[in-house]
Amino acid sequence: MKVTLSVIKADIGSIGGHLKPSAMLFDRVRSFVGERAKGLLIDHYIGSAGDDIHILMTHTKGVDNEDVHKLAWDAFVAGTETAKIQGLYGAGQDLLKDAFSGNVRGLGPASAEMEIEERPNEPFLLFAADKTDPGAFNLPLYLSYSDPMFCPGLMLAPNMNKGFTYTIMDVSHTEGDRVIELNSPEDIYNIACLLRDNERFVVESIHSRNTGEQCVSVSTSRLHNIAGKYTGKDDPVLLARTQGYFPSTGEVLQPYQIGHFVGGFMRGSHVGPLMPLKLNTGTSFFDGPPLITGAAFCVQDGKLTEPVDLFEHPFWDHVRDNVSRKALDIRRQGFSGSAMLPFNELEYTGIVERLGVLDEKFKVR
Ligand code: 13P
Ligand code: 13P
Ligand code: MG
Ligand code: MG
Repeated sequence: MKVTLSVIKADIGSIGGHLKPSAMLFDRVRSFVGERAKGLLIDHYIGSAGDDIHILMTHTKGVDNEDVHKLAWDAFVAGTETAKIQGLYGAGQDLLKDAFSGNVRGLGPASAEMEIEERPNEPFLLFAADKTDPGAFNLPLYLSYSDPMFCPGLMLAPNMNKGFTYTIMDVSHTEGDRVIELNSPEDIYNIACLLRDNERFVVESIHSRNTGEQCVSVSTSRLHNIAGKYTGKDDPVLLARTQGYFPSTGEVLQPYQIGHFVGGFMRGSHVGPLMPLKLNTGTSFFDGPPLITGAAFCVQDGKLTEPVDLFEHPFWDHVRDNVSRKALDIRRQGFSGSAMLPFNELEYTGIVERLGVLDEKFKVR
């Protein structure tokens, strides 16, 4: 059966600053989606990561479907009303436009979608990250789909022997979606050249070269650069089908033990290590550290199993301790050098304005 997996997420308000949506907001979004699902969705699941709330939906309408996107948009509008009633911080933060049109692209919420021909067994993973951007997935996606050190399936599984095709977007291009397709393994040096720059070149999707099927979709968008105006950090979501002729769930998870440094953290303007956390965890230290949550599902005829929490296992407690140490190390150097993002990625305009004023006062001797 052909089924579409759609996850749409937004920050529509949270308690105590940019920490976590309230239970009342969460319930409002859940009951809204539950009421509207009939006749449109086969199944759905709602979760949160940091201050962002995400709606996973299964249906047969294909990607970018207006009715499906509008359902999510309307649920976020309803949730925003609750956020306002409770006085939550940043109520409606990611709803950048007043009215819905067509799909959520460019309106603020982020989406990752895949239309798939369901396999007899169909495991897939939903990742949601906060206090970072879609480039946070660049390194994990390189390692799990191109590096046999991280994905032994590339050596062991004959049905993965042809490798994978990456579709990579240049998110600095504002006039349209500027994308390139590159094949692993032949192009891995070129793929690495692009993916080293997390703030500019971002993986949008990955396809198997053995079957042509899509296995990864990332909520890559040009939103943060549209019209040259910086609108926020685009906290991302990712869907990944696993097992069979795709990397196994464990191979997709392995890179997250690194706690690699990503852009985001406090005021979206710093660099911090990505911490794998349990489902529905909020943020804390320095509005972070940048975090990722993961839920595993199986789907059949569009019906979802209950989620399994990918980072609940005690192994990840050790990783979290290491990532905490990395976060403390980089925070010791405050604003200096690589602890902050470069000038054109700063989420707030204060530094830019100050430098403009100081620029006038400089004298050439
Ligand atoms: P099982 O033999 O337990 O099915 O595991 C195979 C596998 O894919 C491990 O990643
Ligand atoms: P969010 O993008 O998660 O809302 O965080 C913004 C921020 O400024 C955190 O310090
Ligand atoms: Mg927020
Ligand atoms: Mg957020």
